[in-house]
Amino acid sequence: MRTKIKTHFVCSQCGNNFHKWIGKCPICHKWNTYKEEIITDKPIVNLFSPKLFNVETVKSNPLLLKSIQTDKELRIDVIDKEFNRVLGGGLVSGSLVLIGGEPGIGKSTLILQTILKLKYKTLYISGEESAKQLKLRAERLNIKNESCFILCETNLKQILNHINCVQPNIVVIDSIQTLFTEQIESGSGTISQIREIASILLKFAKKTNIPFFLIGHINKEGNIAGPKILEHIVDVVLQFEGDQNYIYRILRNIKNRFGSTAELGIYEMKPNGLHEINSLSELLLTQNYEELSGITIAAIIEGARPFLIEIQALVSTSVYGIPQRNTTGFDIRRMNMLLAVLEKKVGFKLCQKDVFLNIAGGLKINDPAIDLSVISAILSSNLNVPIKRKVCLCGEVGLSGEIRFVNRIESRVFEAEKLGFQKIIIPENNYKDANLKKLNITINPVKKVEEAFKLLFY
Ligand code: TYD
Ligand code: MG
Repeated sequence: MRTKIKTHFVCSQCGNNFHKWIGKCPICHKWNTYKEEIITDKPIVNLFSPKLFNVETVKSNPLLLKSIQTDKELRIDVIDKEFNRVLGGGLVSGSLVLIGGEPGIGKSTLILQTILKLKYKTLYISGEESAKQLKLRAERLNIKNESCFILCETNLKQILNHINCVQPNIVVIDSIQTLFTEQIESGSGTISQIREIASILLKFAKKTNIPFFLIGHINKEGNIAGPKILEHIVDVVLQFEGDQNYIYRILRNIKNRFGSTAELGIYEMKPNGLHEINSLSELLLTQNYEELSGITIAAIIEGARPFLIEIQALVSTSVYGIPQRNTTGFDIRRMNMLLAVLEKKVGFKLCQKDVFLNIAGGLKINDPAIDLSVISAILSSNLNVPIKRKVCLCGEVGLSGEIRFVNRIESRVFEAEKLGFQKIIIPENNYKDANLKKLNITINPVKKVEEAFKLLFY
C-alpha cells in the first residue's frame, strides 16, 4: 500500500503553517502567500562536525549591558571603494551578506570580481554554473588571482565539509535558492529549504567567523525569492539594480547590521566587468543638448550621493479612447498624482493626452525631490516651451501643489554649482535655514508649483 505524502501550507512571508490553503495569512495579514510543502517526520540532525567546531549547547546567561566588552569588529577591505562604502566600511567577519537582483543584472560578476581582487583564500560555490563557465567569466574579468577555489555543488552537507577542508577566508554561494539539505524533503528553492539553509549557514558563519556572500534570486514583484525570514536572518541585504539595456548598475543597501543603509554604489557594466563611477552627473547629463521642450534637470540624492539627472517627458494628443500613461524609472502612480495636481491646481487639462516619462540612464529614482522636475518636464512638453539650459530643480510636490521641504539641500545646490549650472529652483522652506550664501549660482526659492512655472515659462 502506498503511503500518502502529507503536506501542509507555509506562508512565504512569516513562515506560519496551516493544514489547508488560505488566501490571507492570519499572522502577518498578507494575501496569497501560502505555498504547499511536504511534511517531514525526520528529526533535524546537527550538520556540524563536533570535532571541528565544538558545538555544545551553550548555556546562556544575562549580562549587564555596562559590563559587556566590545572590540571593534574585524572588517575585510574588499578593495572596491563603492562596495566597501555600501557595506558600511568593509566586510565584517562572520557576517552573511545577501545580494538580490534581476537575472543577468551582474550579481555573479560583481561578487566574482570582488573576490578575485583579494589576496585572501576564497571559495566560490556555484549551483547554477559549471566550473568552465566560471573560468570563462574570470577570463573576461582578467584579474590575476592565485587563491580562489571553485566548487560546483548544491548539497549543503557536502558544501560545509568542503569549507572545512579548504578553510577559506570568504565564501560565496551562488545562489541560495539552488542549495538543498537532505533534512527537508521539499525541493530546493522552497520556503522551508531556504529557511533551514540560511539558519544553518548563519550558525556556521558565526562559529567559524567566515563571511558569506549569498546571491539570491528575486521574484516577479522584485523581492528576494523565498521567505521574508531569509532577510531577517542575514546581517546585510543588498539589492543590485539597473536596466539591462543601459550600462549603469546601482548597489543599494536595504538592511545593514553594521552600518548605515543610506550608502549607494554606482557601477558601469563594461565588457571586462563592473567599474566604479565617481562622477555620475557628468555621465547622466546630455552634453551640449539643444533646448528642447519636455526636458528638465533634477538635483536629487540617492543613498548618500547627490547627482543631477535628466528627465524627459512627452505629452501628445491621445488617439485611443483611454490615454496612455507610461514611465521608466519613476513610479507611475506618483506621476498620475502629479498629473492630477497639474489639472486641479494649475488648470492644465491632460485627461485627453498620452503622457510618457523617462529618467535618463535607466536608473530608478525614489527621491521625492524629483517631483518638481517631473511636473515641469510634463508641462514643458505640453506647452512645447523648452526650459533654459543650466537650470535645475528640486522639490517634493504636495497634493495641493505646494513645494515641500527636501533633505540635504546644500549638497544638491553644491553639486549643481560644481557642474556649472546657473540657476536652481528649491523649496522655500529649505531656503530659510540653509547656508547657501556666496555661491556662484542663483537660487530661486518657491512655495507653490505656480511660482516655479512662472520662473520657468513666462
Ligand atoms: P551575471 O553576473 O551572470 O548576472 P547575474 O548573476 O545577476 O544573473 O552577468 C550577466 C551579464 O553581464 C551578461 O549579460 C553579460 C554581462 N557582462 C558584461 O557585460 N561584462 C562582463 O565582464 C561580464 C562578466 C558580464
Ligand atoms: Mg548569476
